[in-house]
Amino acid sequence: MRIVAISGSLRKASYNRSLLFAIAEVAPVGMALEIQPIAEIPFFNQDVEAQGTPEPVQRLRDAVAAADGLLVATPEYNAGTPGVLKNTIDWLSRPARSSVLTGKPTGLVGVTPGQLGTARAQGQLRAAFEFAAAPVMPSPQVFINLAREKFDADGRLTDERTRGALKTFMEAFQRWVQRNAPG
Ligand code: FNR
Repeated sequence: MRIVAISGSLRKASYNRSLLFAIAEVAPVGMALEIQPIAEIPFFNQDVEAQGTPEPVQRLRDAVAAADGLLVATPEYNAGTPGVLKNTIDWLSRPARSSVLTGKPTGLVGVTPGQLGTARAQGQLRAAFEFAAAPVMPSPQVFINLAREKFDADGRLTDERTRGALKTFMEAFQRWVQRNAPG
């Protein structure tokens, strides 16, 4: 099972990027995580789209199309989804109704140094993916708060309870992807 993973933060020392590495370590046997960059994705513009698909968008679309599932780690900006991530989803959602997101089993995770664990960002993402007809795993959900207490200065996850929750999440996600596989 191949899973494309995207971090919604472009920051080098991003907690969400670190989270994807921690998840790769606890992913169940038989699941391979492929972290794909989004830094080169241009602003969505229907005029640009009309002239052809930009190369970084095509690369990401091809990776998502070839994958069995999509996993997104999101920061929370101003009580919502960061613009770079929403922008990426807007590109992936085209053409409407026959995009690479249509029917693609999707999982959401997120981490913040704040209190609320990216719950609001994930809520907005869930709505966007559902609109794009991507089935988003309903539960369990992972909201990691107080990141500074759970990751060390090198971005390594040090909190064992969180590691356990991630393992449970990924085992459920493997079943979710299998259950929602096309055909
Ligand atoms: C934030 N941050 C933040 N955190 C949060 O929990 N809820 C929020 O609404 C916001 N809002 C917000 C807005 C903007 C513009 C920035 C730059 C930051 C803090 C945010 O969680 C923190 O910067 C994280 O470290 C971002 O995730 P990465 O880059 O570590 O993955």
